[in-house]
Amino acid sequence: MTLPDPWDAAAAGYRWQEPLERRSLGTMLAVLAPREDEVVLDLGSGVGHVPRLLGRGAGSRTVALERSPRMLAAGSFAGALPLRADVTSLPLPDGSVDVVTAAWVLHVLDEAQRALAVAEVARVLRPGGRLGVVVPGVPRTRAQVLLRSVARAAATARGLGAFAVPHELPALLTDHGLQVRHHSRTGGGYLADVVVCTRAADVTQRSAGPGAATTPGPQP
Ligand SMILES: C[S@@+](CC[C@H](N)C(=O)[O-])C[C@H]1O[C@@H](n2cnc3c(N)ncnc32)[C@H](O)[C@@H]1O
Repeated sequence: MTLPDPWDAAAAGYRWQEPLERRSLGTMLAVLAPREDEVVLDLGSGVGHVPRLLGRGAGSRTVALERSPRMLAAGSFAGALPLRADVTSLPLPDGSVDVVTAAWVLHVLDEAQRALAVAEVARVLRPGGRLGVVVPGVPRTRAQVLLRSVARAAATARGLGAFAVPHELPALLTDHGLQVRHHSRTGGGYLADVVVCTRAADVTQRSAGPGAATTPGPQP
């Protein structure tokens, strides 16, 4: 028997929180600026917020990759190809993607899964390809700390994943040949860190097992 995906239960009505993501996703997409002819892969696409903001339309070369069948069923992907798969094992050839987006997904993975996902991104991106990441910003004020712990407790109770601020993210990206070109913080909705990287030409594949690339990196 296959267990339901924990995110299935969140699919109905998931679009309610899209206004809270708009600033961070808009910043990421403005920096990435994918061209019409580029292949874009959106990881953990949910109900398709990133593909809809991209607005590339039918016939675009955009893939909306998502693990939860109900997210895919409830989603609307603006011409992107919905693909059910796991971010830790991408069913795409090496160097076949120009732009990867990972919006509000890396923080729901545990450390080992995150390392696997980043290794997979480095594998499927072509040399010079770009990765855009949005993760929760490091809380600074007491109110932010409180809000974050409430959100994390609620997510943990529903089995939605780690919901941790990935402090090691810049170091993890760099260790996989993904050079950080942009790192900013956005508010006006969810507090977020937006990171955009370019894949180096000479990436050698690394072990992404537990403990790989966990050196704490600088925080914005
Ligand atoms: C916080 S939601 C973000 C959805 C979307 N990116 C957005 O910004 O609206 C995280 C999404 O990642 C998906 N997800 C979680 N773990 C995944 C995995 N290992 N592989 C693929 N998708 C995953 C969940 O099903 C969920 O739809």
